[in-house]
Amino acid sequence: MRTQVGIIGAGPAGLLLSHLLHLRGIESVVLEARSRGEIESTIRAGVLEQGTMDLLNEAGLGARMQAEGAVHHGFELAFEGQRRRIALTELTGHSITVYAQHEVIKDLVAARVAAYGALKFGVTDVSLHNFDDAPGSTRPSVRYRHEGFEHELECDFIIGCDGSQGVARGSMPQAVRHDYQRIYPFGWFGILVEAPPSAHELIYARHDRGFALISTRSPNVQRMYFQCDPKDSVDAWSDDRIWSELHARVDTLDGWQITEGRIFQKNIVGMRSFVSTPMQAGKLFLAGDAAHIVPPTGAKGMNLAVSDVRVLTAALQAFYEEGASDKLDRYTETALKRVWRAEHFSWWMTRMLHKLDDTSPFEQRLQVAELEHVTTSRAAATALAENYVGSVAV
Ligand code: FAD
Ligand code: DHB
Repeated sequence: MRTQVGIIGAGPAGLLLSHLLHLRGIESVVLEARSRGEIESTIRAGVLEQGTMDLLNEAGLGARMQAEGAVHHGFELAFEGQRRRIALTELTGHSITVYAQHEVIKDLVAARVAAYGALKFGVTDVSLHNFDDAPGSTRPSVRYRHEGFEHELECDFIIGCDGSQGVARGSMPQAVRHDYQRIYPFGWFGILVEAPPSAHELIYARHDRGFALISTRSPNVQRMYFQCDPKDSVDAWSDDRIWSELHARVDTLDGWQITEGRIFQKNIVGMRSFVSTPMQAGKLFLAGDAAHIVPPTGAKGMNLAVSDVRVLTAALQAFYEEGASDKLDRYTETALKRVWRAEHFSWWMTRMLHKLDDTSPFEQRLQVAELEHVTTSRAAATALAENYVGSVAV
């Protein structure tokens, strides 16, 4: 089997890339390890930057997001028993939309299926071949198993969109690869709750007991997170224990409280910052979590995956329409600018809001001083807001 672009992974990066290439008349095949049901139900991100929304709208994928997503013009920082607002739209002219990642995935899969796009679920034993640019080398190919048979997909380019645990990054030549990493000694305990929203906007809370985040999914379903030990077990947390921890961290001195409800999903995720460079070797390119991870505090991961795809689509379009490869050659350099900006922002938000094991009471007071600063200085609030909505210059 032959195609122009072979894509590994049907996350936001792989599916969106395939769809944007299709709109430009470029053929691709997407190979996904999991089933359609699994990718459409895995609970992950929730916050879309305006640039991400604009791209989804331009690609004709925005109808359900516009109907069911919630546009937010600000969020709140809670600390020292009070809540202070960061007025995103007033400070930057941009907003964010809360719309779950698995809903984006459903919209993307539906668009690929409607366009008769080649999308194979449940593939195993994926391996990458001949992607180095050596003169005289044969075309790149991806070998895989599907429905009991071995297959080989020949293509012009292979794009690794297979997330942090995929095979593509490990196929990059070790001699050129350099990884940067910071693992945090804490994780996030996430819950889905059947309840009305506790507040109009998202709340990021710093407390001596640890971080908490109050987000939303719909008028009836809320998403909440709190900092925990990454090795902790979900079973160690009864509903009562979860509510008392969240109340302790988020409720404010004026008597306002989060709204409880029936908890119907619990999970724990670890947190790390990670960048793998370069993002290209010959005809192999990496996009999204395959190349970089951010801690979720800045809500950047999915948005960064989308931003890689935007850069890569323009580069592939220039190659197929004009025979120009300069944008492809500059892919790592172009994509990494936004990646490192987001890495810094996510690390900074994480350090400002979490209980850190390596700090003294002095540094804990510095966290509060910084929160005071970003909620009172318009310049500091604007810098935070520009990073959060993704309008910051890179
Ligand atoms: P993935 O979504 O990981 O997709 C990769 C796909 O490749 C998967 O479907 C996988 O099954 C498949 N795959 C893996 N290996 C193989 C293989 N060998 N062969 C074939 N297929 C393979 N980001 C935000 O922007 N905003 C947020 O608010 C936000 N909140 C988050 C909250 C949490 C709790 C978590 C965990 C993450 C959050 N993120 C957020 C991050 C976001 O979910 C990821 O950055 C995003 O999913 C990256 O997309 P991707 O397409 O690069 O990778
Ligand atoms: C959500 C996740 C985040 O990481 C974040 O910063 C804000 C919201 C969410 O899942 O709703």
